[in-house]
Amino acid sequence: MPHRAPGSPGHSASNYLTGKAIQYYRPRGSAEVRQLIDGSFQAFNAGRLSEACHIFADKMLAPEHDTTIGLTVAGALTPAGLGGCAIELMERGLIDFIISTGANLYHDLHYALNFTLHRGSPFLDDVELYEQGVIRIYDVLFPATVLLETDLYIRDFLVRAKLSGPMATSELHYRLGLDLMERQPGCEAYSVVACAANAGVPIYTSSPGDSSIGMNIAYHELMNGSTLMIDPNRDVNEVCAIILAGKKNGCVILGGGSPKNFYLQGQPTLWEVYGIPKGGNDYFIQITTDQVVWGGLSGATPSEAVSWGKVNPGVLPDTVVAYCDSTIAFPLFCEYAVGSPNGRRPRKELVHKRDAMVADLLKQAKAVHTDKSATMAEQPAEIDRHR
Ligand SMILES: NC(=O)c1ccc[n+]([C@@H]2O[C@H](COP(=O)([O-])OP(=O)(O)OC[C@H]3O[C@@H](n4cnc5c(N)ncnc54)[C@H](O)[C@@H]3O)[C@@H](O)[C@H]2O)c1
Repeated sequence: MPHRAPGSPGHSASNYLTGKAIQYYRPRGSAEVRQLIDGSFQAFNAGRLSEACHIFADKMLAPEHDTTIGLTVAGALTPAGLGGCAIELMERGLIDFIISTGANLYHDLHYALNFTLHRGSPFLDDVELYEQGVIRIYDVLFPATVLLETDLYIRDFLVRAKLSGPMATSELHYRLGLDLMERQPGCEAYSVVACAANAGVPIYTSSPGDSSIGMNIAYHELMNGSTLMIDPNRDVNEVCAIILAGKKNGCVILGGGSPKNFYLQGQPTLWEVYGIPKGGNDYFIQITTDQVVWGGLSGATPSEAVSWGKVNPGVLPDTVVAYCDSTIAFPLFCEYAVGSPNGRRPRKELVHKRDAMVADLLKQAKAVHTDKSATMAEQPAEIDRHR
């Protein structure tokens, strides 16, 4: 096999890239889909998906509950065209922050930059694809040049933006979104990262080194001597502060993976580490193909999360896991939510409130610490009396 640098364009024009362009589908609140879910999704995982739709649309989105809602995203969902669902939810104020794998954000940039991903087949000759410089994500196909040009854009952005020092991923993604809107006007309508910046929705990545965005940041440090450093501590504290500030808290978990725990650990960070009992999540919705029997995080149920203080023990009826492929279930779920009477809320625009929320977390944590120190200072006298 002749060596070709990974990702470099192949030798010949490809006939694999003739499939339709993958578009970001935008749910519109179809009455027929709502009728289908209410009338026909009655049992098994259809029943669970229907339950998820009702928990989200009737309870989490109810104005009186004012739930702060996090969406977590794992699985290759932006390549599969699901970014439009997240965009619609953000525009309508139906989700307040996102935790995603870096891969989903990286692949979203292809849409922002007007590169095309194509519908294809999962049953292709991968050696031939390699020879032709075609990249495959299951049945999604695109030329390797899309990777190279997206990487180039990221590196140009990093130089242009002159970002330096430690930074939360929410700040990095916000600045990236602003840059995309400046260079590709109107792209907030078809890019998750740009839409989030426009709608004030913070986006976090739980493992920032684990994607092509992280790969290009690493390049920037080594080759350009940049001091830009993703600060996971800042991310942990911001997510924790967002949860603390919420009147009620709820999540929609797509897949699972590290974004799932990065969201759920917010409650234990509060009670176990900062000593601030928030009471656990009020709502929990997960759509996943993973199962509980393997003992891993992605398949762990809301009931198991109760034991960790991640989920409020009194709210198990407001938790549900639908065992479905997100590429099928999530667009249906979004159609249902968008078409519901609670299908629009005022946006919280948390991206602009992060510093204030972290300052409040610090204030509350210091108060707990001061109380504890006062109690401990009293203890020796107490012990002495018993001698
Ligand atoms: N070039 C890149 O930037 C790149 C590309 C691919 C992956 N990655 C990295 O690889 C890691 C793994 O990413 P991943 O997103 O594939 O997650 P994953 O494979 O770890 O999946 C997480 C969980 O989601 C479930 N899941 C996956 N697809 C699903 C679907 N369609 N429907 C329902 N559930 C589904 C799985 O059962 C799994 O338990 C990430 O950290 C990512 O950043 C990077």
